[in-house]
Amino acid sequence: MSQKSIAVLTSGGDAPGMNAAVRAVVRSGINMGLNVYGVYRGYNGLLNGDIKEMNLRSVSEIIGNGGTMLYTARSEEFKKPEAQQRAAEFCRSKGIEGVVVIGGDGSFKGARALTNAGINCIGVPGTIDNDIACSEYTVGFDTAMNTALQMVDRIRDTAQSHDRCSLVEVMGRRCGDIALQTGIATGATAILVPEVEYNIERDVIARIVNTQKTGKKHFIIVVAEGVGRVRDLAKYIEQRLGIEARATILGHVQRGGSPTLRDRVVASQMGYRAVKLLKEGMGNRVVVMRDGKITDLDINEALEMERVFDMELYKVAMTISI
Ligand code: ADP
Ligand code: F6P
Repeated sequence: MSQKSIAVLTSGGDAPGMNAAVRAVVRSGINMGLNVYGVYRGYNGLLNGDIKEMNLRSVSEIIGNGGTMLYTARSEEFKKPEAQQRAAEFCRSKGIEGVVVIGGDGSFKGARALTNAGINCIGVPGTIDNDIACSEYTVGFDTAMNTALQMVDRIRDTAQSHDRCSLVEVMGRRCGDIALQTGIATGATAILVPEVEYNIERDVIARIVNTQKTGKKHFIIVVAEGVGRVRDLAKYIEQRLGIEARATILGHVQRGGSPTLRDRVVASQMGYRAVKLLKEGMGNRVVVMRDGKITDLDINEALEMERVFDMELYKVAMTISI
């Protein structure tokens, strides 16, 4: 009997640790007696036939690298049902019975569509934002937070030297987790996230004024991308309080760099579990972290979940950053 084949792809925004997940899929697959193909540039690789059979050494020296050796893409074409059928047909023509999709919840919708077209797919959460409701943790989050932490620490040095207010925008379109964690870790005077409606006077100005009264002369305000307007906020603070203010948008620096230990380990665990599921003939599932443990859920169930923002942690931040 010929050996069963599976494939692995990375999709959506890249995240540090995706390479560690690819490595885990390839090595676990080969170890479990499967052929493993790498698919290039997300779902586009299945539409263009851009795949390569991997061996144990194809994924050597990548565990510490940022980005993704398989490249990534946002494939508009793959959203069309006829493209999904074509991708499934391509998989069948190569004997590929299952695909591990490493990406965010958009990529999981693609995985569900491909499963419905007859190819078992397993999702692995890979995105710096930590914005996937079904999982407490997404691969890339720890590295991105630590990069943001280092950047804000540097900004604090210069803000302090000039008695300035520095506003720093961190990534997270719909999710304030990077902002919240970084804000706490850098002692930000205010933290603005998309999940909590803010009032500029109460949540920024009053907080600055209160700390000024106790002798503070420099201020860090961390703002999530989903809130935006950091430049306008800086101007407003200058005019309103007469403090010099500067805005910095950290941007894609947060997406790169060598993954932290946590991202490498979680990616390895999740990649392994995804292959185990495929090996058992399962599909339409997402590997997740729940209560600190790696487990898996049905994709439909996973996609229906609503993300819960950690209000308790937000309260901690608001209480001690004074
Ligand atoms: P992320 O996976 O990071 O959330 P996107 O939302 O950009 O990123 O999705 C990545 C890719 O997943 C898309 O470019 C597309 O190829 C595929 N995808 C997203 N939504 C769907 C959908 N509803 N049906 C099929 N494929 C989808
Ligand atoms: O989802 C990850 C993320 O980095 C978001 O934080 C950000 O909004 C988005 O991707 C940026 O995407 P890009 O610049 O790749 O289009």
